[in-house]
Amino acid sequence: MDWGLKNRMSKIIRPENGRAVMLAVDHGYFLGPTSRLEVPRTTIAPLAPYADSIMLTRGVLRSSVDPSICNSIVLRVSGGASIVGEDLSNEGIITSVEDALRLNASGIALSIFVGSKHERQTLLALSELVNEGQKHGMPVLAVTAVGKEIGQKDARYLALASRIAAEIGAHIVKTYYCEDFEKVVESCPVPIVVAGGKKIPEKDALELTYNSLKAGAAGVDMGRNIWQSDHPVPMIKAVREIVHKDATAKDAYELFKKLSSKK
Ligand code: R5P
Repeated sequence: MDWGLKNRMSKIIRPENGRAVMLAVDHGYFLGPTSRLEVPRTTIAPLAPYADSIMLTRGVLRSSVDPSICNSIVLRVSGGASIVGEDLSNEGIITSVEDALRLNASGIALSIFVGSKHERQTLLALSELVNEGQKHGMPVLAVTAVGKEIGQKDARYLALASRIAAEIGAHIVKTYYCEDFEKVVESCPVPIVVAGGKKIPEKDALELTYNSLKAGAAGVDMGRNIWQSDHPVPMIKAVREIVHKDATAKDAYELFKKLSSKK
């Protein structure tokens, strides 16, 4: 790995413990103004101090994030489909590596839709992005997206999709927690971060975080389970406690309750 790429990776996954708290706020790229992310600036600003990096699109970065922010930026560079369109998997690259460099991104992210009608196009887009990223020292995070038509998120599927992403050259893989998650982690030779998925009770989301780390994940790239909580700041603090301080799910939930009641 060249110095620039290593340096950018260290802005996403902290070198001292190999862990990462990523705040995912990129949902608008296919969902529009999702609940509690209607005004991105309002959602992002109070949470940013507790995230190592923020994952978002260039439109939201430019319009809604203070350029003096200390967080690293992971730029979502795939899109082109929407929740009301024909096929969520019909994505392409929507932002150039050059623009990501101009925006001082520490990484770029795209979704792959393994098993979908557009599997090939999204895997070739990943390959293109890795080729471009290598030229500029820009790490690529591949999201193993689960489109509407792919209901199955078991370890067999997620291990397949994650391994393919790593084989093509992704530097980090973002996937979903599932039963036997350690099998997904052990067969993927690059670090894995876990998405939170749909909003679930805070206690369950903290257990998901804890179990993911225990199975070998490097951290989380979590969105709705943080900012759709009635207490988003206590929630991200509790998640951070697990990722960076090895707290148990129980202790993190106690912290969440304590901080929420103070509010
Ligand atoms: C989906 O592909 C988006 O990239 C989100 O960033 C991802 O789903 C993580 O967010 P959440 O924790 O809300 O699932």
